[in-house]
Amino acid sequence: MSHQVEWTGWLQRWDEQQAGYLPDREEQFQLMLEIVERIAGTPDRFVDLACGPGSISQRAARRFPQAEIVGLDLDPFLLEIARQTVAGERVRFAEANLRTPGWDAVLGEDQVDAVCSATALHWLDPADLDAVAQTLGRRIRPGGVFLNADTMRLGPDEVPRLDALAVELRDRISTESHARGVEDWQAWWDTAAAEPAFAELLSEREVRFARRWKGRDITLTDTIQCFRKAGFAEVAVLGQVADKHLFAAIR
Ligand SMILES: C[S@@+](CC[C@H](N)C(=O)[O-])C[C@H]1O[C@@H](n2cnc3c(N)ncnc32)[C@H](O)[C@@H]1O
Repeated sequence: MSHQVEWTGWLQRWDEQQAGYLPDREEQFQLMLEIVERIAGTPDRFVDLACGPGSISQRAARRFPQAEIVGLDLDPFLLEIARQTVAGERVRFAEANLRTPGWDAVLGEDQVDAVCSATALHWLDPADLDAVAQTLGRRIRPGGVFLNADTMRLGPDEVPRLDALAVELRDRISTESHARGVEDWQAWWDTAAAEPAFAELLSEREVRFARRWKGRDITLTDTIQCFRKAGFAEVAVLGQVADKHLFAAIR
């Protein structure tokens, strides 16, 4: 890299940008960690699924300093931000494509206590989610927990008018944030693309996401069914704004 990159600034800007899409993102993350503690106890092994630049991992490392924390993602650029910014002796970041069977090999042999994810699994389609849920059903120990704060459609076939309304309400959240001056997704990536030091990582990113096809959007019903089928004992929604849900599943 030709000059010193301010990695921490990139993570902070990411957090600000993402907060435009997930209402009360910081509070959601703290709540997720509290739920982990209340359901599974202080975790020994914690996974940040589709971690991006490590926002959840960073907060988990602060709250659970003794835990092994593994952040998984496919994006080499976001993973680099995570590696450069998230401190912790037992924190590591690894590449994994959640659409490829065996992605969990990077976790090693042992089961994990908790898996958290945010604003990421909607990149998958229902068949991918089904496979991911099956994998998590094997990977999370009995009594462990899965939490996901993300868009889960109410269902264009199940409740078409309410689904359409929820999409509109969800879009309004980001539109209003951006009108208040919060940076949007595209602007964040455009600024990253203008930084010569990132060129290599961003071109690798292009390659990895070149075949980002997707079938239909994941619904809340898909999510509930997938996790029930994968052997989770209890599944429920613990929070909702429009079609953004905080979904919880106890293994
Ligand atoms: C909007 S970002 C959210 C990142 C992070 N969870 C957060 O809340 O800041 C979505 C993330 O999903 C990741 N992702 C999308 N498809 C993926 C896949 N097939 N395998 C692994 N990660 C994936 C992206 O690379 C990106 O980091």
